Amino acid sequence: MSSPVSYKLEGIIGVITVNNPPVNALSQPVRQGMLDAITTAQGDDSEAIVIICEGRTFIAGADISEFGKPMQDPFLPELLNTIEASSKLVVAAIHGTALGGGFETALAAHYRCAVPAAKIGLPEVKLGLLPGAGGTQRTPRLAGVKASLDLITSGAPISVGQAGKIGLIDKIIDGDLRDGALAWARELVDAGTSVRKSSEQPVPEFDAAIFDEVRATLAKRARGQVAPGHIVTAVEAAATGSFEDGMAKERELFITCMESPQSAGMRHIFFAERQAAKVDDLAKDTPIRPVESIGIVGGGTMGGGIAMSIANAGIAVTMIEISDEALERGLSIIDRNYAGSVKRGKISEEKAASCRALISGSTDYDSLAEVDMVIEAVFEDPILKKKIFGQLDGVCKPGAILATNTSYQDVDAIAAATKRPQDVIGTHFFSPAHIMKLLEVVRGEKTADDVLATVMALAKKIRKVPVVSGVCYGFIGNRMLRPYGKTAQLLLLEGASPQQVDSAMESWGMAMGPLRVFDLAGLDIGYTARQALSEEEKGDPKTYRIPDLLVELGRMGQKSGSGFYAYDDNRQPTPDPAVDGLIKMAADDLGVERREIQDEEIVDRLISALVDEGRKVLDEGIAQRSGDIDVVYVYGYGFPVSRGGPMFYADNIGEM
Ligand code: 3HC
Ligand code: NAI
Repeated sequence: MSSPVSYKLEGIIGVITVNNPPVNALSQPVRQGMLDAITTAQGDDSEAIVIICEGRTFIAGADISEFGKPMQDPFLPELLNTIEASSKLVVAAIHGTALGGGFETALAAHYRCAVPAAKIGLPEVKLGLLPGAGGTQRTPRLAGVKASLDLITSGAPISVGQAGKIGLIDKIIDGDLRDGALAWARELVDAGTSVRKSSEQPVPEFDAAIFDEVRATLAKRARGQVAPGHIVTAVEAAATGSFEDGMAKERELFITCMESPQSAGMRHIFFAERQAAKVDDLAKDTPIRPVESIGIVGGGTMGGGIAMSIANAGIAVTMIEISDEALERGLSIIDRNYAGSVKRGKISEEKAASCRALISGSTDYDSLAEVDMVIEAVFEDPILKKKIFGQLDGVCKPGAILATNTSYQDVDAIAAATKRPQDVIGTHFFSPAHIMKLLEVVRGEKTADDVLATVMALAKKIRKVPVVSGVCYGFIGNRMLRPYGKTAQLLLLEGASPQQVDSAMESWGMAMGPLRVFDLAGLDIGYTARQALSEEEKGDPKTYRIPDLLVELGRMGQKSGSGFYAYDDNRQPTPDPAVDGLIKMAADDLGVERREIQDEEIVDRLISALVDEGRKVLDEGIAQRSGDIDVVYVYGYGFPVSRGGPMFYADNIGEM
């Protein structure tokens, strides 16, 4: 089998080229090929060596699919030590993204050049790991302690411009990278430049208090995660000891992380997210319809956020509202959100202005005559939605995709309100829609393949994580939330307090406990929905008596200042004795005996409720695969990524 690494002497430069599509990950054959090439280069006529990659990117990291299996020689840290020990000058030439082990390879080179659009980063923390091939030791020696901690604990890639400022990139190459890198390597040789080992650079001065400060911040930001704290320890070792000792510490901590269930869960989500973007029965060559303009019907909470997501990807938006006043209100919320993003440094003022300029408003459905797609986001009222789809059918051009953002309603019934059900699909965004990454793509019975393929591609373009769902009440996520919510109500009646339920779940890792979630969403929504149901349809009163009583007392949740909790002006919850009394009363009334409930039981019963429904969702073919359900819960419902999603967790209980 031919090696994914080639070596060629070009004049005085030995060129090592990595070609391992799609992202040049450092699989065993790549490591072996690089080791062979660097060894060859030591004995030939080369005077300097350039490491460069084919395809869309420089090395994007270790091969994650090898993790969890026995590692094979040559190990990456040893390979990188060999590269750094080269007697001939080594230059890394970067394009695309140099990430993780890829950037560590660049750090082992003596000099680094990159094209202006390239990015570098150490994203291991997002996989529950720390850089394990010298990243925690070489980075602080070049960039200092603070910049290194920022880079490695966030895992966020940075531009080469930024990387240049902190000493991680030496030269930016405009034009052809290969030509530029070889020319620069020759210049370095001509100038008599000597090798410069990152490992031998002294760590710039730093404030010793920084380690504890960062540990304290991370304890809050990355609650319960092990890797961030280990990163701080490894960087501290770099700053306070020898390179060799630091490398030993890094290795020890890397192995601890690699063997942890947290990393297993996060690696599962990495691959599950990418898998979720694929639709099993959709041919690879399914055509994509052009989507250059999108109409949004309803500029409320969701419509405004959806408009921003789309405009942020450079697509023009026309937002339709019922009146000038409602339109004005919707657009002004968008203005406020952009201003907030600028203030928090999320985007530049210019970028915000150019995105905002792509959003226009109208009260006339005829403005949608030429758009390529419409997303409906009006009130959750099936009759209204069907009426609007009838109207859209009348005004939209043939081939326009008609999508609904409904949370629960039957997409097939909505499609049937048009004469083109093949063009209708569900696009279920999550709130706040310009921030939340998840997009449930609801495939109706008659949705055409190219409509589905187009929406999956659009999701990627607007930087969402799409998951395909079949049609059922609540699709994947909200459907599973119902038994979860009902179980929370039973736990209250049986003796737990709202704060006990929430804190048990939050300590376990959920971003927010179920009762705080209900208060946030508004208890009146479920109440109103129940009013339309018969007693039989409503089911066991134990599963809804408490929220009914709360709503009847005017306690709708955060928006009315009280629900399961009392809220202050900053929307901070405090336990409310009145609620405890109301729960006891409901339990008496329904004949439920109260007892002491342990946190463990709370977690077990709530997670089992999710998982049991998840299994039904899978059996019925609503979700394509169990990993898709995990992606929905991690990206849409604050399920801890370090537990890999509910289905992965259930399949691996005992190890988590
Ligand atoms: N290992 C194995 N496979 C990888 C991979 C990796 N490091 N990175 C990406 N892939 C695979 C994906 O699974 C996907 O496979 P598929 O086509 O079969 O689904 C394919 O490559 C393309 O990936 P994306 O769809 O993500 O492509 P994008 O162009 O959207 O993004 C990227 C490219 C920015 C490089 C993104 O893939 C990415 O962020 N990759 C992970 C980078 C990373 O985490 N590196 C660190 C690894 S850990 C490490 O290096 C440890 C070291 O310190 C010892
Ligand atoms: P909202 O009440 O904030 O906004 C609805 C908007 O639609 C209002 O501004 C209203 O004026 C407008 N509208 C009503 N009839 C209209 C018509 N005929 N033509 C044009 N505009 C019209 O509602 P929200 O929360 O934005 O929800 C919209 C949809 O999104 C619902 O189907 C909801 O179930 C779904 N959804 C809501 C989520 C949430 O957290 N709020 C999350 C995910 C989906």
